[in-house]
Amino acid sequence: MPDTHVTYTDANLTEAVLGRIRPDANPRTAEIMASLLKHAHAFVRDVKLTPEEWELGIRYLSAMGPFVTDKRNEWILLSDITGVTMLVDALAHASQDNVTETTVLGPFHRENPPVLKNGDNISPDIPGELLEVRALIADAAGKPLAGAQVDVWHADKDGGYDSQIGDGNTHMMRGRFVTRADGVVHFWTVNPSCYPVPHDGPAGQVLAAMGRGPMRPAHIHFWVKAPGHRDLITHIFADGDKYLYEDAVFGVKASLVVDFEAKKKAGLSDHLELDYTFRLPKQA
Ligand code: BEZ
Ligand code: FE
Repeated sequence: MPDTHVTYTDANLTEAVLGRIRPDANPRTAEIMASLLKHAHAFVRDVKLTPEEWELGIRYLSAMGPFVTDKRNEWILLSDITGVTMLVDALAHASQDNVTETTVLGPFHRENPPVLKNGDNISPDIPGELLEVRALIADAAGKPLAGAQVDVWHADKDGGYDSQIGDGNTHMMRGRFVTRADGVVHFWTVNPSCYPVPHDGPAGQVLAAMGRGPMRPAHIHFWVKAPGHRDLITHIFADGDKYLYEDAVFGVKASLVVDFEAKKKAGLSDHLELDYTFRLPKQA
């Protein structure tokens, strides 16, 4: 219904804007837009946004453009550093007993990683401390899932992903595996390091403005796909990393932190080892 105001004021503007959402709009779209508009107006009132600050905000949003390319999406990074990505994740995947927790995908996954065999090294010729990984992929009851596809990727000992180092096109420290009959994926690699999220663009400006750092604790990414089960996108974090408690993207969950050095420290191995059981829920 058209509103009857001629002059819009602080007192009637929000109501007028909400009233312009047409009754025949898609109900979910109408719900999302109404809430977004209410919160945006409340924010402007809350901080008493000045015209100069509004202009600065518009300039900030406009500066995102050059940082949205096929290699980088600054909007996703902004969502990550503001905790929005992990909030959406938390609402979609409430912690469930017996199921591995999820975390951010991040920007460094590649569509077609090298397809490797169990026992292969995903980081031949890459300097670093040797790390052996055994990942058991199972259902929520612990039954091994044979034939599951597992993409793994991580940074090198200096915190660089393959797309950030060298020519940027060579695949390193990543691979696609298929689980054996016993549900296990086994590979060798080098121990990854903590690293900064890209902070030379608008997202970095926000971090700096809040006095926050860009670092993420060392981790290995896993994306598991098994027929009949929900995809699992997660990381395993290295215990002891000094950034575990200040991850720039709030992605750490205690259940995903593993001591890669445990066996070496106990004299049971001469290299780092990661053993982890990933449990996937059934497809809804
Ligand atoms: C990553 O873990 O690769 C990542 C996640 C979020 C933002 C930047 C990097
Ligand atoms: Fe990462």
